[in-house]
Amino acid sequence: MKNKKNQKIELEKILDREFTELKKSLKNARHQYHSFYFSTINSNKPSVRTVVLRDLNDNLLFFNSDIRSSKIQDIYSNPQVSALFYDKERGIQLRINGTAKVNHGNEFARKVWSNVSLQSRKCYMGPFKPGVRLNEWIPNLPEKYLKSDPKIEDSQSGFLNFCSIEISIITLEVLELHYDGHIRFMVDYNSDKEMHYIAT
Ligand SMILES: Cc1cc2nc3c(=O)[nH]c(=O)nc-3n(C[C@H](O)[C@H](O)[C@H](O)COP(=O)(O)O)c2cc1C
Repeated sequence: MKNKKNQKIELEKILDREFTELKKSLKNARHQYHSFYFSTINSNKPSVRTVVLRDLNDNLLFFNSDIRSSKIQDIYSNPQVSALFYDKERGIQLRINGTAKVNHGNEFARKVWSNVSLQSRKCYMGPFKPGVRLNEWIPNLPEKYLKSDPKIEDSQSGFLNFCSIEISIITLEVLELHYDGHIRFMVDYNSDKEMHYIAT
């Protein structure tokens, strides 16, 4: 049995290692943490979808989205959200509960937008609200940019639909799979990142 101090050091080491992996995933689309599952609630109805991790720091995660998509209304009606990462190669799951904030049309969104590639900017220039019913398939991209990227000045219209979602972590749960007993622990960001093991 490890003493409390050694336990804390061990859990801090695992947490640091996972944050290093999350950071690595930002520049590596093949990394298992590059995308994650993001869930919201609206009128007691849960929804989950895949999104791409764009940035993070000690207690915040960021992804980009279209302000017209239904997840944004979900966040406005209830900012309680969950994010799930799973690295199947290493057998590690990160489950996050937090609150989400929508950065739209503000200084922060503008800064993130300035680093969005022209190819990605096209995705925010589509004529249809994401999720709207279509009577026939039509790509939700401006017709003239189907086979090319917009010029930087033309791409600015996409900024109206662009937003950066910020998830503020409240709890983070790590599950590390092992044949001889899984390791599972909770980090409580409301209590100065207090950590404790939990049963698997
Ligand atoms: C691999 C992958 C990555 C995705 N990344 C994003 C993303 O970063 N942001 C986003 O809004 N939607 C992303 N999507 C699309 C969402 O999963 C979802 O279909 C869309 O955002 C509409 O969700 P909503 O109707 O629940 O708002 C991604 C989908 C896949 C399959």
